[in-house]
Amino acid sequence: MQAALPEASDRDALEALRVRFLGRQGEITQIRRVIGSLPTVQRPEAGKRINDVAAASEAAIAQHERSLRANELGSELSQTIDVTFPPILPETGSIHPIRRTMEDIVTYFERHGFAVVLGPEIETDEHSFDALNIPAHHPAREGFDSMYVRSDLLLRPHTSPMQIRTMRANPPPLAIVTPGKCFRRDSVDARHTYMFHQVEALQVAPGLHMGHLKGVLTGMCRALLGPRQSLRFRPSFFPFTEPSAEVDTSCPGCLGNERPSAGCRTCGGSGWMELGGSGMVHPNVLRNVGYDPDAVSGWAFGIGIERLAMVRHGIDDIRVLFENDTAILKQLA
Ligand code: PHE
Repeated sequence: MQAALPEASDRDALEALRVRFLGRQGEITQIRRVIGSLPTVQRPEAGKRINDVAAASEAAIAQHERSLRANELGSELSQTIDVTFPPILPETGSIHPIRRTMEDIVTYFERHGFAVVLGPEIETDEHSFDALNIPAHHPAREGFDSMYVRSDLLLRPHTSPMQIRTMRANPPPLAIVTPGKCFRRDSVDARHTYMFHQVEALQVAPGLHMGHLKGVLTGMCRALLGPRQSLRFRPSFFPFTEPSAEVDTSCPGCLGNERPSAGCRTCGGSGWMELGGSGMVHPNVLRNVGYDPDAVSGWAFGIGIERLAMVRHGIDDIRVLFENDTAILKQLA
């Protein structure tokens, strides 16, 4: 039996071998059965021999089984697992860069106690223009190339109508931030789309001035783009603010005010980046919503989101943000 052992390479083969020699019909068992037919004097010697062979065989089988088990364990342990191998990650979606930028701005204002309000994308011309001190036939209406759905209803060309809605619904003081979609009759190119996003903010309380506006905007730019951002106002005109200013922040690409670079692709070498419009709420607007301009003052701004998202992600064509190429969105996430 021992001669056949090395061929039993697994435990099934070993069991078959055991049955072949030691099982009920096994070769050793059969030899043992013939002992009874031997002459009496030979029986003890024959019995002892067969017992010795059986015991030796059992011991050899047990020994062989132990070594088979050891080999199995050894080969299991020697299968090396590369713990540095990159796992297969599930495919997940991501927040669109426009939404992410909008949420970051809104979060900044929420942290500072501003209420978030959302308004309709189809607005009345009264909310969009008249109440904002832009009467019918005023040339400023042309600046908001609008898309009318009815003679008195339009896709809102800016988020400023929400100033009117909120002030009419609430007495002062108030502080709101209102993000959303806006629409203008622009033809599409690398910098324009007929649908875009703005975030508008408005605060009304006794004694507010341009310093408050600049402080809040500076804080927002630093939270969004980095602690070295600075802010500049350029005199401008909006019928609903007086004084009015365009808001620029130092170019985050070349850190404009610190070391402007003529070759900077983000700002084209100017060192500044345009954010949007702002100013002190015009007394006529305060009167239009029933506020007393002698008792309270307010500041407001409206900034474009696409431009900010483009700068944050190094995109130089606004259309990339609307084509929803998942390969690009994945990269931006
Ligand atoms: N509504 C203006 C625009 O879309 C921006 C603005 C908002 C200006 C608030 C002043 C105050 O151009």
